[in-house]
Amino acid sequence: MKKLLASTIVCSALIIGTLDSAVAANKITIKFSHVVAENTPKGKMANRFKSLLEQRVGERVEVDIYPNSQLFGDNKVLQAMLLGDVQIAAPTLSKFSRYTKKLQLFDLPFLFKDMEAVERFQSSDQGRSLLKSMERKGLIGLGYLHNGMKQLSANDPLRIPQDANGKKFRIMSSDVLQAQFEAVKAVPLKKPFSEVFTLLQTKAIDGQENTWSNIYSKKFHEVQPYITESNHGLVDYMVVTSVEFWQQLDNELRREIKQAMDEAIQFGNQVALEKSVSDRQAILDSKRSELITITDSQRQLWIDAVQPVWKQFESQIGNALIEAAVQSNTP
Ligand code: SIN
Repeated sequence: MKKLLASTIVCSALIIGTLDSAVAANKITIKFSHVVAENTPKGKMANRFKSLLEQRVGERVEVDIYPNSQLFGDNKVLQAMLLGDVQIAAPTLSKFSRYTKKLQLFDLPFLFKDMEAVERFQSSDQGRSLLKSMERKGLIGLGYLHNGMKQLSANDPLRIPQDANGKKFRIMSSDVLQAQFEAVKAVPLKKPFSEVFTLLQTKAIDGQENTWSNIYSKKFHEVQPYITESNHGLVDYMVVTSVEFWQQLDNELRREIKQAMDEAIQFGNQVALEKSVSDRQAILDSKRSELITITDSQRQLWIDAVQPVWKQFESQIGNALIEAAVQSNTP
């Protein structure tokens, strides 16, 4: 009897051990690559996503986060995703133009009056439909994540469009942003985020545009004596994965990933809101950069100067989409 019991225990242990190693063998690794620091809305969202998902289905999934362009820069990450080398990324909406021209909408200067308007537009039918706009190209949008409104930093104070004349600005890889700087007779240069600090420090460029949290976390304010509070545009993200990866998951795991992502995005958006105030203040407190506040009439000069960019890109983006975004400025 004792012998029988002992061999039953050994068999059960073997079966359990085999099942465990089968689960372990099927465990998937999600690589999440991004370009910003961990102490930013996107960095914190990514870390929250990892902890939520691993808490819930850690026996089935491991999430590896690669911040600060450690794995891929934004110019390579989407190609890498289509090759299966990375599963999740959240590039800015300015970096998708190879896959859809519609997202160029978000780069139109002075389109959204504030982040509430962005939120209203993104949760509308038109906004949500854009999450699916790249499916034929192999990419699925899992959600939008905010960072904030862009400010202009430079070696000299920028108050009116003429102040930008002839100056070199780093821009993200967006034709709309290129047209925006050309409209004020500046010289835009498309460069990866990872190179911006050095370009500014060595004075290879004169300025750049970014949010308070990106300026602060990457120390741009330490090498840029002036920041114009222009709120002229947007840094916002689409969290994406590949159609191929998404479709190979079973329903339950897909649901878990989506749920964890929705919660992480909600958390990231809260961080974005707080950082747009606290990182701005930290920059002012550092006294490394002087804040340039423009008057309403100076702001109007910038708006007038870049307005032709809307017409230039209207046919690529679609008039209905632009109209819907404009409408979202009215609550
Ligand atoms: C980011 O926030 O992901 C990068 C923004 C930039 O490239 O300027």
